[in-house]
Amino acid sequence: MWTRRNMLQALAATAPDLVLRLTAAPDTVRIRPGGETAVLRYTGQVLRGRADALRPSASYLGPTLELRRGERVRIEFRNRLADPSIIHWHGMIVPEAADGHPRFAVGPGDGYVYDFTVENPAGTYLYHPHPHGLTGAQVYRGLAGLLIVREAQERAWGLPGPEHELSLVIQDRRLAGDNRLEFKRMMMDDMNGVLGDTVLVNGVAAAAFRVSPRPWRLRLVNASNARIYKLAWSDDRPMRVIGTGNGLLSAAEGIQTRPYVVLAPFERIELLEDFGARRPGSEVALVSREFAGPGMMDGMMGRGGSSGGMMGGMMGGGMGGMMGRGMEGMMRGMMGPGQGEALTVARFDVGTQARTAGEELRLPPAPRSPREGHELHTRLAFRHMRGFLDGRRFEMEAVADDERLPLDEGTVWTFANDGGPMSMAHPMHIHGVRFRVLERSGGDAPADLREGLVDAGFKDTFLIFPGERVRLSVVPTEPGLFMYHCHNLEHEDGGMMRNCRFEARSPAGRT
Ligand code: C2O
Ligand code: CU
Ligand code: CU
Repeated sequence: MWTRRNMLQALAATAPDLVLRLTAAPDTVRIRPGGETAVLRYTGQVLRGRADALRPSASYLGPTLELRRGERVRIEFRNRLADPSIIHWHGMIVPEAADGHPRFAVGPGDGYVYDFTVENPAGTYLYHPHPHGLTGAQVYRGLAGLLIVREAQERAWGLPGPEHELSLVIQDRRLAGDNRLEFKRMMMDDMNGVLGDTVLVNGVAAAAFRVSPRPWRLRLVNASNARIYKLAWSDDRPMRVIGTGNGLLSAAEGIQTRPYVVLAPFERIELLEDFGARRPGSEVALVSREFAGPGMMDGMMGRGGSSGGMMGGMMGGGMGGMMGRGMEGMMRGMMGPGQGEALTVARFDVGTQARTAGEELRLPPAPRSPREGHELHTRLAFRHMRGFLDGRRFEMEAVADDERLPLDEGTVWTFANDGGPMSMAHPMHIHGVRFRVLERSGGDAPADLREGLVDAGFKDTFLIFPGERVRLSVVPTEPGLFMYHCHNLEHEDGGMMRNCRFEARSPAGRT
């Protein structure tokens, strides 16, 4: 159960402030009326320290971990699944041995001990399994949870307190008539990623929240395998963004106002939403608006995107007008619900009590930006139903020379997405760091999504459209073997993932 290396690490670490246990095991829950649904689920216990460090969830999601910046945490993971697994703390900057890289996956009945200090600033993070080839299936069946980092200053910054915040973990699922979860039903799923037709929020269908008429802090989290959401208010009020993936925006960036926000898999966004600006007793919905879709299927169907429609090209010549609406409908049926469909995410009922004004928001100052002395390039391609990073696919231990980043120094990491006919949008993610998006150029972020991209602040996951080039500024601070990959979980499991190594420059000066 304990590897020798694990044991030594545990002994070497100074006494943690908090010791938690998370167990992954099969369970059944009620997702919607009708039969119970078989799921996989994390459950947790506080073994030492604050009892409020774990908040159990009402459905299949794991308990929410409430950590404080600076806290020393030990987490004991127990695998009670029938397959190997390991937990990754998405967005968290932790030592190599605590990152949950797939090479640390443990078998059924085994466990793994994580030790880390919470370095990340206040924000909304996630944890999820990361065994190679099985991540998509395990997340889909229920293994994921929220990890919230809090800081003492948050109140002083004027943010609504924990009693006036809501977290919405958004996922899409296919539920069969008997409420069984259906995973990978269609041939296109390896390409598009698994898309569902039912939106679940915090593990329940048709989610509804009662809110008092005052400002609320909303943490919106996309924990879907592949679906991109275009989130908006049904009454068209603008979205006021105060934080992106990896912490709050800075005072210099200020609140970013958008007509809608685009949230790719495993991205998070924080909003400051004043429900007091609405009529008491009114109802408003958080919806995902229709878009023409940078997804594979839509490209193939010739609906938007830059590809002009592969299927149109393939079938257009010989079959002429046969590729009409009926045919398209049939193809859609075969392929399942598409990317970019209009969906209702959650309903909010505004209370009738007197309106309360919020405090003035004072976002934290921006940290100094680094000088970037190093450059790195990664070309994304999708061929033969598989994703490639610079023509390579994942190998458990392999790291190429051009996948090494100097420690404690700035690197400009440029990602370029092929513009070919099979090209699609990919949510790219890097472990062990938070980065800034410096520039987005070329390609064509679809006109109906562009306004909702929030590239401000620090991020750990970003969406890159066909033909686009995105430049990031990153400063690794933890030495060791980490990874970068597409966070469309089917692309990730298909090998659109690579290791990267963060290391001190050798005295000879590696470039
Ligand atoms: Cu959220 Cu490598 O993952
Ligand atoms: Cu991650
Ligand atoms: Cu991808």
